[in-house]
Amino acid sequence: MADEPLVLGIETSCDETGIGIVRGHTLLADALASSVDQHARFGGVVPEVASRAHLEALVPTMQRALDEAKVTLADIDAIAVTSGPGLAGALLVGVAAAKGYALAADKPIYGVNHLAAHVAVDTLEHGPLPEPAIAMLVSGGHSSLLLVDDLTNGVTPLGATIDDAAGEAFDKVARLLGLGFPGGPVIDRTARDGDPASIAFPRGLTAPKDLVAHRFDFSFSGLKTAVARWVEARERAGEPVPIADVSASFQEAVCDVLTAKAIEACRTNGVRTLVIGGGVAANSRLRVLAEERAARHGIEVRVPRPQLCTDNGAMVAALGSRLVAAGVAPSRLDLPADSAMPLTAVSVAG
Ligand code: KG4
Ligand code: ZN
Repeated sequence: MADEPLVLGIETSCDETGIGIVRGHTLLADALASSVDQHARFGGVVPEVASRAHLEALVPTMQRALDEAKVTLADIDAIAVTSGPGLAGALLVGVAAAKGYALAADKPIYGVNHLAAHVAVDTLEHGPLPEPAIAMLVSGGHSSLLLVDDLTNGVTPLGATIDDAAGEAFDKVARLLGLGFPGGPVIDRTARDGDPASIAFPRGLTAPKDLVAHRFDFSFSGLKTAVARWVEARERAGEPVPIADVSASFQEAVCDVLTAKAIEACRTNGVRTLVIGGGVAANSRLRVLAEERAARHGIEVRVPRPQLCTDNGAMVAALGSRLVAAGVAPSRLDLPADSAMPLTAVSVAG
């Protein structure tokens, strides 16, 4: 609707410079510049390289977003920006830019939580989120299960990874298999030709004793080590490494644990909606397994399309739009870039 607020979102927490524009629940523009290619030879994101790339990409990406939405900065009702968590230097570029635009055009500014934005983006595709919902956020930097009572007001963390994030495990395993970076998409593709039941890799934190202290937590570091040992043993024996089978079996171990714990979190909390976000939510097997298991318990699974799962500006605009609609006060112009922003804060208080 034309009278709904027009919100611009800026995302620079990792290696994607994203600028999105939404009106209400409608996505008008989602401009993205990625520095992923510049990090590939290092096998992971290099913070200084990412910060510099944001600096170079920000103004042109902003122009592309405004052009795509056919609006000018003067038309925008509010500016939202990722305040944290993320890489400190990378966040700083987005936050400084947002402040500059807000000051120049005299617009309210909302510093928002990157993880809550990953949840909010689903509303652009599937409409208002039924609350309470369980959100599972799985990316290169985080793996968390959250209880979402009111997305504009704060979310309750139920569990998180105690070591590597799910996407990090994909990236590290891809690296040891010589598949390149980022690892998720290439393992997803390679796994299609493999047998997921061929190798029994460990399921972290699923033993009865772990379920007491770490019921909704994840651990992927043992899995990564198990894959490395398995591959080494084959190489020592002079046998070829069946890349597709290793990929499929590894992917199955990750998806098995993620979906089992997510469904359990829904059932324990009497919740009938599971929303999955973050880069790993783009995984084809994760989507299928989550839907299969959820259907057995009458739970609806909502996963945004892959481009909206990985980092982007639309997610920040989507959360900003929810905050404006809920009448939440804007942040102050001295809002920080907070690399360790806790989830209890969905936006920086005004
Ligand atoms: O959300 P995101 O773009 O950035 C972070 O906030 O980390 O997530 C990137 C992560 C990377 O680790 C990448 O390997 C993983 O998401 N990823 C995938 C897939 N596509 C991206 N993991 C598994 N399967 C995929 N199809
Ligand atoms: Zn992310």
